[in-house]
Amino acid sequence: MTVIITRPAWTIEFENETIDRLIDKHAPHIPKKRLQEPKAIATAEELENFYHFRVGGAAHDLFIVQVVANVIDKIPDPELQLFLSRQLGDDGAHAENTRRRVEALFGHDPIDDIQKQVQKHWDFMGDIPRRGWLGFLAFELHYEHHIVAIGSLNRRLSRLYDPESSSFATARIIPDETFHRAGVAEWWLRKFDKASPTEKAELAAQVIEADEEVQRRRNPYLKEHEKVSRRALGIEVEGTGVIYDTWRQEVLSYFFDIPVSQLPKLVSIDD
Ligand SMILES: [Fe+2]
Ligand SMILES: [Fe+2]
Repeated sequence: MTVIITRPAWTIEFENETIDRLIDKHAPHIPKKRLQEPKAIATAEELENFYHFRVGGAAHDLFIVQVVANVIDKIPDPELQLFLSRQLGDDGAHAENTRRRVEALFGHDPIDDIQKQVQKHWDFMGDIPRRGWLGFLAFELHYEHHIVAIGSLNRRLSRLYDPESSSFATARIIPDETFHRAGVAEWWLRKFDKASPTEKAELAAQVIEADEEVQRRRNPYLKEHEKVSRRALGIEVEGTGVIYDTWRQEVLSYFFDIPVSQLPKLVSIDD
């Protein structure tokens, strides 16, 4: 049987066009392009806010390293293992660059503060990422795909920045992360597209259930990290939660071939 797949390839253009469409539809007050040039962080207060924001960013990446290191030999799929070896190396390099930039700005190594934040991720995520491939996929979706809209909005709305961190993000983090999201999508679709319609419906229901559990567990952290990010980046535009929620619907629709209108009602970032 020939299966015709009509999904577009997972690319950065696909992401940007989708996010722009969601802004037009749900939050047209959000500018689609940057309106003013950001200012480099300079005051003691701006630096202090930036410290917490970057420690949070490094913890996100180090948590990915720790999860991937845990599961890489537990899912017996050599093609996935090769992809994960790159993800582990890239996200480790992101965490290390952030750690060293913070060290240069503040004169001390923030590794202990970073690990404290990583422990919080383990505390709220529990064993989900290590609970077989279902939980692992839900983890990947949350830590690579669902957060994209937030990152994209932060880049448009930020009024403060650190030039060195931004250069590294443009040169390395953004292309690496696009590769990670496309790699997870390819892995998943290789598996999913071989399934029968009944199996697909079952797989979709199981992963969406795990994805919902992660959303509930992550919500307090996401709220807190949003406050930290807004303070550090000088963001004033409100009402971005709807873009997170509708972007997450688009991701799930893509991964499970279900039109957005037919997805179950999902937990909101604002719940
Ligand atoms: Fe990363
Ligand atoms: Fe990543």
